[in-house]
Amino acid sequence: MITEEGKNQSEEFTEKVKVPDACVMVIFGASGDLTRRMLIPDLFKVYSEKLLPENFTILGFSRKDLDDESFRDSMKSSVIEFTDKDNFNHDLWDKFEKNIFYMSENYDDQNSYIRLRDKIESLENDKNIKGNRLFYLAVPPDSLSPILKNLAVCGLNVNESKRSWTRIILEKPFGHDLESALKLNKKIRQYFTEDQIYRIDHYLGKESVQNILVTRFANGIFEPIWNRNYVEYVEVTSAESIGIENRGGYYDNAGALRDMVQNHLLQLVGYTAMEPPSSFDSKSIRDESLKVFQSLRPINIDEVEKTVLRGQYTSSKIRGNASEGYREEKDVREHSRTETFIAMKFFIDNWRWGGVPFYIRTGKKLPTRVTEIVIHFKPTPYRLFKSKHDIAESYNMLVIRIQPDEGILVKFAMKVPGTEFKVKNVNMDFHYSDLSGTQLPDAYGKLLIDCMLGDSTLFIREDAVEACWRFIQPILNAWKKYPDIKVYGYPGGSWGPDCADDLIAGRDFKWRYPCKNLSDDGNYCEL
Ligand code: BG6
Repeated sequence: MITEEGKNQSEEFTEKVKVPDACVMVIFGASGDLTRRMLIPDLFKVYSEKLLPENFTILGFSRKDLDDESFRDSMKSSVIEFTDKDNFNHDLWDKFEKNIFYMSENYDDQNSYIRLRDKIESLENDKNIKGNRLFYLAVPPDSLSPILKNLAVCGLNVNESKRSWTRIILEKPFGHDLESALKLNKKIRQYFTEDQIYRIDHYLGKESVQNILVTRFANGIFEPIWNRNYVEYVEVTSAESIGIENRGGYYDNAGALRDMVQNHLLQLVGYTAMEPPSSFDSKSIRDESLKVFQSLRPINIDEVEKTVLRGQYTSSKIRGNASEGYREEKDVREHSRTETFIAMKFFIDNWRWGGVPFYIRTGKKLPTRVTEIVIHFKPTPYRLFKSKHDIAESYNMLVIRIQPDEGILVKFAMKVPGTEFKVKNVNMDFHYSDLSGTQLPDAYGKLLIDCMLGDSTLFIREDAVEACWRFIQPILNAWKKYPDIKVYGYPGGSWGPDCADDLIAGRDFKWRYPCKNLSDDGNYCEL
């Protein structure tokens, strides 16, 4: 357990909480899953923490036939469902929902946008909002183009006045491959300037992800050893116990590489591997993570089979309960070869990381939900303690637990008390939950506030999206060119195909397994 030092002393670095100016936030795709699961619950949470002004206004825009009343009711049920039911504050919700409105409109119809402009202007007048507008595009990729164009045709893409702002938030996927990402960026830039565009990756909104920068750059002890001289290999694991949850239509065309690796996992690699930025501002931080993405060694198309391993969950029994295989899920093709698991090895070609392998692994229907970054340090140059009771080697490890149970763990060797020299690995473990009165903010809430304040630090810049796709594209090319590259089936509830262990195995390299297999079934098979 680690205690809070410097509490009530001047050592604490705190920034004053800023509340953004009121705006009208238009949500395209307001009747979709993201709005009800994430956006409205997180917005209500930040509103109850007084981080939003009283007259902050939400305008849902979607094809579904709803009115203000029914939209509010459905949002209320969602907030109750996805937040702390027992502590739901009905009075506060009644106040909040007075600022929620809905328009049932068509994305392709220009007249819809004329009505949208009129509605925004009337809300701004009624609520004394000074022309600040935020457009949130939570829509499938094929709806982006008409929305962007029609906003521009109706003059909704420019600032209303010199003192107001107009911004746009885009949800992933930012393209399906490198070519479509380049096209998409070009399309957006036709209508909006880069400083108006906020590409959201909710992983960067997680407190524990931002803490990677603080751990590395607010402490003197880690940085000197954070490089090829001391680090043996780096592992990033993001495991999910859930399957694809009714998202077959989307997922079967995406797969884990596009869904998790191209964005979330590479962003984690960016923060873990970047050089110290010259200052804590959006440009410096995003410049440094871009350099990491640009230094990722391209994987040769003929090497993909050896360094990138894909898997798909099969039907299984998890703790005695039947669990559906991926191909039995709704909207998934009968003989789909889409990967729900991926493990890969790559290098970052720069002075800090030259020769250090990076391993990343992500999958659905694994035994638990956990995301962590593990820095595996080199062993001691010589093994001094050799009793047969000792651990074979002392491997120091620093584990940054992104979720759940956010915190940091250091593993090191110590002497077991007694007359002989017995050595054992122990943990020094910090949990965020040990900090008194700390409640971690939700990722979307944090990012939405940042956007309203004009802080783009935690959003993905155009050049970073493109650099990440450049790295991913050869893998997609290889799977297309050599469709016989294996897809391994793995029973739901297991840690993925066993051969992922062979991918990492080198000297004493191993994945860290935070918990055991839960599947009652045997090994993996080839699909
Ligand atoms: C989303 C993916 O971006 O991230 C989902 O589309 C995935 O498939 C989710 O489940 C994981 O997010 P988190 O915050 O639960 O780790």
